[in-house]
Amino acid sequence: MHDGYAQCRATSGFLPAWTHVRPGRKILDCGCGPGSITTDFAHLVAPGEVVGIDIDAGEVERATARAHELGIKNVHFRIADVDQLPFDDESFHAAWLIFLSCPVTPPSFLFSKTIQSLC
Ligand SMILES: C[S@@+](CC[C@H](N)C(=O)[O-])C[C@H]1O[C@@H](n2cnc3c(N)ncnc32)[C@H](O)[C@@H]1O
Repeated sequence: MHDGYAQCRATSGFLPAWTHVRPGRKILDCGCGPGSITTDFAHLVAPGEVVGIDIDAGEVERATARAHELGIKNVHFRIADVDQLPFDDESFHAAWLIFLSCPVTPPSFLFSKTIQSLC
């Protein structure tokens, strides 16, 4: 399992420091992979909600299984391309993108209006 984030998170503690991460918030995790960060968000924003999206169906399946195993109810995963997000405007308080692999992702998404309009 890819878990580079999980290896560094024990010492970083940077998620709780992000001002958008508060109980009751709704967060979008783009390129969630196996869901390591997504499930951490779920704990931090509960009773809020986290949605993890990934273009790779296998990753979405793994992330869903991981959340199920951990008994986390306030997280959902779905297959989606960050450049064609299937959400209405202002669906989230914040969107998180980290460690998204550049070779399969056009750089345009970083500045995309789509992401900006979601929050
Ligand atoms: C290196 S993994 C990072 C996973 C997770 N963010 C983490 O840090 O643990 C990058 C993920 O981005 C996903 N990805 C790449 N391009 C994407 C796109 N255009 N839309 C959605 N997901 C994408 C890949 O499928 C992969 O699961």
